[in-house]
Amino acid sequence: MALKQSFIALVLALPALAQQQPVWSQCGGIGWTGATQCVAGTTCTTLNDYFSQCLPTPVTGPTTVPTTILPPSTAPSTTTSGTTSPTSTAAPGSCPSLPANPTLTSNTFLPDPFTFFGGTKVTTKAQWDCRRQELSTLLQKYELGTLPPKPASVTGTLSGTTLTVNVSDSGKSISFTASISYPSTAAGPFPAFIAVGGMSIPRPSNVVVITFNNDDMAAQVDSSSRGQGKFYQLYGTGHSAGAMTAWAWGISRVVDVLETIPSSTSRIDLTKLAVTGCSRNGKGALVAGAFEPRITLTIPQESGSGGAGCWRISDKMLASGISTQTASEIVQENVWFSTNFNPFVNQVNNLPFDHHLLAALVAPRALLMIDNTGIDWLGPESVWGCMSTANDVWKALGVADSMGVSQVGNHNHCAFPSSEQGDLDAFVNKFLNGQSTNTNIIKTDGANGLGFVRSQWVNYSVPTLT
Ligand SMILES: *[C@@H]1O[C@H](CO)[C@@H](O)[C@H](O)[C@H]1NC(C)=O
Ligand SMILES: *[C@@H]1O[C@H](CO)[C@@H](O)[C@H](O)[C@H]1NC(C)=O
Repeated sequence: MALKQSFIALVLALPALAQQQPVWSQCGGIGWTGATQCVAGTTCTTLNDYFSQCLPTPVTGPTTVPTTILPPSTAPSTTTSGTTSPTSTAAPGSCPSLPANPTLTSNTFLPDPFTFFGGTKVTTKAQWDCRRQELSTLLQKYELGTLPPKPASVTGTLSGTTLTVNVSDSGKSISFTASISYPSTAAGPFPAFIAVGGMSIPRPSNVVVITFNNDDMAAQVDSSSRGQGKFYQLYGTGHSAGAMTAWAWGISRVVDVLETIPSSTSRIDLTKLAVTGCSRNGKGALVAGAFEPRITLTIPQESGSGGAGCWRISDKMLASGISTQTASEIVQENVWFSTNFNPFVNQVNNLPFDHHLLAALVAPRALLMIDNTGIDWLGPESVWGCMSTANDVWKALGVADSMGVSQVGNHNHCAFPSSEQGDLDAFVNKFLNGQSTNTNIIKTDGANGLGFVRSQWVNYSVPTLT
């Protein structure tokens, strides 16, 4: 009897003991029949209806990066009082104007990067800068919400490994921090990665990692999180910016403060700034890289639909029976996008852009899109089609190899496969370390382009911009 009871106790105890999923593994979601517990130090986190994952607890913070030596001395507080963001090199007034209320027309193709909204063709590199501004305006207006310009007062201090950023605008103030992890070698200044919510790609040697707490700036718990976070304390809970736009704004303020600190003190080389993040934070990394021209290299990891995917292609995937995040699903799931997007989510063909043109805001700066062919809800066909098409813009600008796509399956979401290490190294070494590497990387391990047929989606030709 005693034996039988202890046997029952053992059997009852077993599932909890044995069935603990390791970090990055799936732990829930529609159709998931495996274990739902995560190993110590990780938390089962719902990423969407289809996928919950064991993520490090907390997802932010410098716990997984090497300890710091030689912390910089505390820098004096400094104020910057510029009012313009360095977004444009085009002469004022030289760009075609966009109507205040553009008339939108349905287009089942991926919209032409090289034709202005009003119909004029983009023929020069200088005109690309105009087109980039136009696309930024359209993306803010119909999808991402308004990105506020640099506020009147941005101040900050670097104390040890904590960067404090204080911002005041129109009589309101917020303060937030970013944690900085230095390499354990040499003195710098080093290239730096801004890690949205934490670094999930393997950390390159001799780089600083600045962990940006995006959840603190704009919450992303679920669809009820809208208006929560420091951005909305400053600009009001009704501000149109979706969470990703709020994060991009906050990342720009981090760069503002770093610009006030001598590189001999910060040990950061601001000409060599990168941004990265995975999954939802990868979507955020893409938006930050798109909006912030002071970022040299943008590396979104597994951002999938809503990041590297195109809405039109994700809708086509769902229509053919693949459970992919689409615009109509994503706006119910979370608050990454502006409420400005809601009228479009069931008619994405009316958008005068798609996400090949969100990615194109990064051009001619460097972009490496790392994604996963093995997870349906990430929209592998959509990502491949969208990003291989986005490369058209870099090609037209004569720098096709400044934009890469590396899409590999057979691994957990956000677990970086070693087969992509060479692609990451090539981009980091060229754009952050000044080396001459081959970054001609547009690749997927999905058979037959995962079903993407370019001629069904692209009806423009790619010019050579002069
Ligand atoms: C591409 O297709 C769209 C939608 O049918 C159309 O409006 C546009 O004029 C076409 N572009 C070209 C270059 O054929
Ligand atoms: C930044 O804000 C914090 C919190 O309000 C405050 O304690 C600190 O003195 C401020 N620092 C600067 C440099 O304004």
